[in-house]
Amino acid sequence: MDSESLDNLTLAAYIVASVMFITGLLWLRSPETARAGNRLSALGMLIAVVFTVIDRDIVSYEWIIIGLVVGALIGAIAARQVQLTAMPQMVAIFNGFGGAASAVVAAAQILHQNDSGDVDPVVSVTVALSVLIGSLTLTGSLIAFGKLQGIVATQPVLIPLRHVVNVVLGVGAVAMAALMIFDPSLEWALVAMAVIALIIGVLIVIPIGGADMPVVIALLNSYSGLAAAATGFVIDNPMLIIAGSLVGASGLILTRIMTRAMNRSLGNVMFGGFGVADSTGVAAPGASAADRPVRSVNATEAAIVLGYANSVIFVPGYGLAVAQAQHQVRDLADMLKERGAEVRYAIHPVAGRMPGHMNVLLAEADVPYDELKDLDEINDDFRRADVAVVVGANDVTNPAARTDRSSPIYGMPILNVDQARSTIVMKRSMASGFAGVENELFHLENTMMLFGDARASVEDLITEMKEL
Ligand code: TAP
Repeated sequence: MDSESLDNLTLAAYIVASVMFITGLLWLRSPETARAGNRLSALGMLIAVVFTVIDRDIVSYEWIIIGLVVGALIGAIAARQVQLTAMPQMVAIFNGFGGAASAVVAAAQILHQNDSGDVDPVVSVTVALSVLIGSLTLTGSLIAFGKLQGIVATQPVLIPLRHVVNVVLGVGAVAMAALMIFDPSLEWALVAMAVIALIIGVLIVIPIGGADMPVVIALLNSYSGLAAAATGFVIDNPMLIIAGSLVGASGLILTRIMTRAMNRSLGNVMFGGFGVADSTGVAAPGASAADRPVRSVNATEAAIVLGYANSVIFVPGYGLAVAQAQHQVRDLADMLKERGAEVRYAIHPVAGRMPGHMNVLLAEADVPYDELKDLDEINDDFRRADVAVVVGANDVTNPAARTDRSSPIYGMPILNVDQARSTIVMKRSMASGFAGVENELFHLENTMMLFGDARASVEDLITEMKEL
């Protein structure tokens, strides 16, 4: 095949792959089609890789094959072995290496350009962008990984004058980029810019609390896409530009969805000290459980309430993931349905610790998709529900978000659990959730606290229900 026909064929393959990416992304919107969407996008990527490899002037295939085999092996093993709760860490690592790969490819191109003497200012600008964004994505993602994995302190590490240091480093990086663009033969300027960007990556993530890492990871995901798109311009590869832009845009949209659902600005996540630690036993100041009684029930009492319910809404939260109680919850739901009750699940957009956390857990337990309801869809139905069963959720049910202007979660949309006729809350103690605030819900008259590990509590409920 002559070179022009091969170019046209490659372009056609890229268009097909792009359509597959976009369709795959669309399918990811619903749990019913998400798996197919993932496979379609992966197939699109395979097509893109194959056509890229046959199209370019490859000197030797050996390294490509070694890279493919090693990468595919690591990816397959990691995807199989990584626990669902460790998924954010895995995404962080992928983002970091994606950013690094884009930076390295772009840097190689400038060296190649310098060797050939054919200098193009557009290439220099895009190389600078790619190396800058890719490098800070690498170290930022590694720190995010370390925080989630407990290798790096999860507490915000606030170095003195950090904003000043960041500004100075930022100016230094831009100056190096300008030097490199002005004279691409100054390869040391490229290296200096990369080193500064690597330091910036560490410094922008280290002051952020471990619990805010999912938002940071979504943002870094977007950065890795931008770095890839910039590299696409560098090596004149439309596929990389399209794929990078899709990742960049979707990462940004995800970041927006997460911060909006938490009623926080991106600036507050990046510069505020919220989300200092993970779910802890810290109660809010003045929240003495002694002077604010709660109604504690046992499984027998809770089972009686459930046994008479015609309409039950389950509200899963982070504790469901910790307890791994999804299968038991589904069994309980099946029992309730057999008794003629209507059962649904209210899914808050930031319940748990990563986007779609609850959907994935419940899908694993084969909960029917049509029973999963988004916040907007179900919130008005709580007032008609007989029982709301809160399984390890806390912040996403806190009525203070509606009324208490001084609360850190004020303004965050919450599930109207307090409006149900009765509410059963399953958790181990009176400890606060992620936001570290006391939950008014636990002290309401129609709320029953069923203390204990959620999985054990649901199992007890199932046993008691059988006795009814
Ligand atoms: P949280 O408010 O964090 O509350 C979870 C509760 O689960 C805790 O109060 C804890 O109480 C309980 N729990 C832990 N282990 C348990 C177990 N084994 N059995 C029973 N209960 C257990 O969770 P949520 O309501 O899902 O809210 C999510 C929070 O995370 C929000 O503040 C959100 O803004 C934040 N966040 C979410 C995301 C995403 S994308 N989902 C990202 C970053 C931050 P005990 O210790 O008393 O058991």
